[in-house]
Amino acid sequence: MSAEKRVDLEEKLDRELDRDLQSDGPPPYSAAKGFIVSGAIWLIVGTTWGFIGALEYVAPDLIQNVSWLSFGRVRTAHLNIVAFGFLTATLIGVALYCIPALLRTKLFSERLGVATMWAWNAAVLVGAVTVSMGYTQAREYAELEWPIDVAVLLAFVLILYNMIMTVVFRREKNLYVSVWYFVGAILWTSMVYPLGNVMWHPKTGSMTGTVDAIWLWFYGHNVIGLLFTPLAVGAAYYVIPRVARAPLYSHTLSIIGFWTLGLIYTHIGTHHLMQAPVPLWLKVIAGIDSFLMLIPVFTVLVNLWMTARGHWVNFFGTAAGKFVFAGTIWYAVVCIQGAFHSLNFVQRVTHFNNWVVGHAHIAVFGFAGMIAIGAAYHILPKVCGRKIWSPPLANLQYWLIFLGLWGMFIALTIGGLVQGNSWLNGESVYRVLPQLTMYSALRVMFAIMIIAGALVGAYNILMTVSRGERIEAA
Ligand code: HEM
Ligand code: HEM
Repeated sequence: MSAEKRVDLEEKLDRELDRDLQSDGPPPYSAAKGFIVSGAIWLIVGTTWGFIGALEYVAPDLIQNVSWLSFGRVRTAHLNIVAFGFLTATLIGVALYCIPALLRTKLFSERLGVATMWAWNAAVLVGAVTVSMGYTQAREYAELEWPIDVAVLLAFVLILYNMIMTVVFRREKNLYVSVWYFVGAILWTSMVYPLGNVMWHPKTGSMTGTVDAIWLWFYGHNVIGLLFTPLAVGAAYYVIPRVARAPLYSHTLSIIGFWTLGLIYTHIGTHHLMQAPVPLWLKVIAGIDSFLMLIPVFTVLVNLWMTARGHWVNFFGTAAGKFVFAGTIWYAVVCIQGAFHSLNFVQRVTHFNNWVVGHAHIAVFGFAGMIAIGAAYHILPKVCGRKIWSPPLANLQYWLIFLGLWGMFIALTIGGLVQGNSWLNGESVYRVLPQLTMYSALRVMFAIMIIAGALVGAYNILMTVSRGERIEAA
């Protein structure tokens, strides 16, 4: 763009910004704030539902004849609420702040952002209610019925439009890597979501047989790899240099990490089907690429840790720093563990049992969720112009979640090994159940810590946005 055109554009943006500030439209960052606040509330609901599911493992007869509280429905509602209500919403909120901030402009349309925020929350709510009523397409991560899929897809497309238009009208020429990750995540998901949900077949939302299983796990792993992961990595790339107060270690590494993620992550879904009758060549690709994933993962982590090197003290000083840094450690653990349990002979012990559930929690919550909460705390003062209501409460939330999740992970991993080894020795499923009670009970105990963390966090966030000390006044 020529210098003259740039000046014209900047003047136009200034005029628009003035007009927006004078108009009665939503104030800047309203959409980001709405997504973050709703994410914090959904975390309470989602973890409570997880708690009910966990309790049913310890006391299967506790809740009887209440169909919407039966394990199958509780599990599905839990998963959808934490994945889409808490995690995706919080990270989209973070992105809707970071993109304009990094591009030295405002969000293309705050009004559209707020509308999509309400549409998103309505879709999560209707999704949770319908799943609890038993309406499901019975495909993991693709349970929601067709009309809700349409609403979710529409929300993704509108968020994408808002992001891309913000990029088009930017004042900052350089696109920092976080922008790549945020826009990439929503762009990829807008394509993968309708495919994975087989939306051209509204009646069932699925194909048939093994082909459908392969298709589903192509989609399922892309929800993880092309939505949660890039949103969380984008947020970490934004927060870590700021908390460290140091420039990013390497922009070249950041771009290598981005492109290798897109290249490798897209076809490892079959590692969920290593024990199923799917073509061998697909299993070979999935197995090899599960190890190759260590390239994008460790280029990101080395880059972030080298940026933080020498500034560790800044990370331990704030809850935001601690949350995001802990998230990067979980990312390393998850991906090393993931590579090894992609191997067929390892899966003979770990597949279909609590080992995988442990992996799923340290991945979706430990890695992506911790980064989401940390990034939310980091940007909230800028989003609402108020100081965090209570830094000690944020700190307390960190320790409750950190210790609760570690405890849950260890209990599930040991429980999974007990299950896997017993099955391998020819023991039947039901005879192993009594041995699991202790680990299931431990999960319930640690869950109480996590729910307490969710409650403390939502209270702190709500108080910050409504009553936090104004930054100008401070
Ligand atoms: C109080 C805290 C929580 C408890 C007690 C809990 C409990 C559970 C239970 C009982 C299941 C079903 C496991 C099974 O099928 O055997 C589950 C699945 C799952 N939960 Fe949670 N959960 C909690 C928090 C979270 C959070 C915060 C997230 C993500 C942000 C999360 C993500 C998942 C995922 C991805 C699965 C599917 C795992 C798989 O299929 O392997 N959970 N959870
Ligand atoms: C990049 C390296 C990773 C590899 C190689 C990997 C590998 C795997 C494998 C092989 C399974 C299936 C295990 C089985 O069923 O026996 C699995 C499950 C899972 N992974 Fe990962 N993983 C990686 C990273 C992640 C990340 C970053 C996340 C989340 C952000 C994640 C979330 C999950 C979830 C939720 C499941 C449970 C799926 C289900 O059955 O519901 N993984 N992973």
